[in-house]
This record gives sequence, C-alpha cells and structure tokens, in this order.
Amino acid sequence: MAEFTLPKNSKIVKGRTYEAEQGKRLRTFKVYRYDPDTGANPRFDSYTIDLDKTGPMVLDALIKIKNEIDPTLTFRRSCREGICGSCSMNMQGRNGLACTTAIEDLKGEVQITPLPHMEVVKDLVPDLTHVYAQFALIQPWLKTASPAPSRERLQSPEDRSKLDGLYECILCFCCSTSCPSYWWNADKFLGPAILLQAYRFIIDSRDEATGERLDQLEDPYRLYRCHTIMNCANVCPKGLNPAKAIAETKKLIAERAA
Ligand code: SF4
Ligand code: SF4
Ligand code: FES
Repeated sequence: MAEFTLPKNSKIVKGRTYEAEQGKRLRTFKVYRYDPDTGANPRFDSYTIDLDKTGPMVLDALIKIKNEIDPTLTFRRSCREGICGSCSMNMQGRNGLACTTAIEDLKGEVQITPLPHMEVVKDLVPDLTHVYAQFALIQPWLKTASPAPSRERLQSPEDRSKLDGLYECILCFCCSTSCPSYWWNADKFLGPAILLQAYRFIIDSRDEATGERLDQLEDPYRLYRCHTIMNCANVCPKGLNPAKAIAETKKLIAERAA
C-alpha cells in the first residue's frame, strides 16, 4: 500500500506525544497532522487512550481524541455507519472507512494517514476537487432522448439486477487511491471509482446515451490505464469490484468494434 503524499518541499518533523489516558486497555494512535495554513512541516502526533472508554471503531477513537484531547485534529465523517463515504483514510497501511474498521482488528500502535497520493486540505482530509471533476466528466445521471413517459421510465427486474454491485458505491475513493495506475496517471486515468460509476450508467437500461458514454471512455488513458492489478477490488469497503466493471466496459467497446 502506498505512502501518503508529503506536501512539496516538506519533511516529517517530530510531533507531539500527548499524556496517556489512565486505564487498562491502552492503545496509541499515531496520527498524521498537517495544516498548510501554518506553513509548518507535517508531523505525527501520538495519543494514547483507554479502549474501555471509547467505542469500538477507529472513528470512535478519533472523535474521542478530538473531543477530549486535541480539538484541532481534523477529519471528515458524517453517517458513522459506512454509508456516506466521508471517513475514508489509511489505517495501518490499508485504505478503509474509519467508522467500520474495528480497533481490535488493528495490531499494535495504530498509524493513521490520509488517503494515499492525494493533496491534503488538513490532517486527514484529502482534497477531492480532482476526483469530483472526473465524476462530473462522466455525467452521472440518466440521459434520455426519447419523450418522457407519463409515469416513470420502467425497468424489468432483470435489468434492475444489472445495477447490483454498482449502485452501492459510496464514492469513498479507497479504491482509486490504492490503484498504482491512478497514483501515476490521475491527471488522465479516471481510476476505478469513477469508472465503476461510468459503467453503472452505461449498463442502466433506462439510459439512452450508451454510445456517447463509450466514446468518451475509449481513450488510451481514461479507461485503458487499468492493468487489472485488482487493488481496487481488494480494498473496497463495500465489497464491490471496480476492476470487473472496467473489464465489462472494455468488452462493450471491443464488441461494438467487431
Ligand atoms: S484493477 Fe485497474 S483500476 Fe483496479 S487497482 Fe488495478 S489498475 Fe487500478
Ligand atoms: S468502488 Fe468501493 S472503494 Fe471505490 S469508491 Fe466505490 S465504495 Fe469506495
Ligand atoms: S462516517 Fe460515513 S462512511 Fe464513515
């Protein structure tokens, strides 16, 4: 798994070790800290807390640290149940959702860093501007040319089932930020999260822009930088398989050319 990205011309400096909480089940969390507004170098701060006095998940520990030890610690979260995709980060070298990652499943000192290969807004908050611009590029909505029916556009149960394994994506970007092709070509390769979303609309029987969508992806970089390394499927916290969606998209492009 990749390292987090250090800001340009910076180096990690010694961080602060906060006084340990009293208790029997102590665990230390070593958390990446960086605030571009201060101009200071990034650092790791250490917080030792008692697991008997916190909830079971990594997000519980971060909230406890923020509430009781260090209110300046910054991270994203909202739903605390694996639905919103906000709390994605790297824990012990693996991307995941802090709210669904049990502390007990991580051994020893827990190192927490932002998603790899992303610019950092502050501490554990990655800058998602670029990935959301890529999301907008694929036009993630149903596009139709035929007249609107008097009620909704119908879909057979069989066609609806083709969206299973796709609609569940919560855009956490754990996959894209664990994909080596995306690390090196994020400017041109769309990455697994966005390509899974693209396929979700390509395969939707109600969408009438399939050809246009495939044209947009038929590009040496946007789609074909995927080399089936499978990190994306291994890391997805929702158990989805972006590599399969990418392979299906490549197949559709090959079939229409035949
Ligand atoms: S299968 Fe493709 S998209 Fe997934 S990690 Fe590998 S190169 Fe990236
Ligand atoms: S495919 Fe999985 S890892 Fe990738 S953005 Fe969607 S939910 Fe997150
Ligand atoms: S807080 Fe919503 S997915 Fe973790």
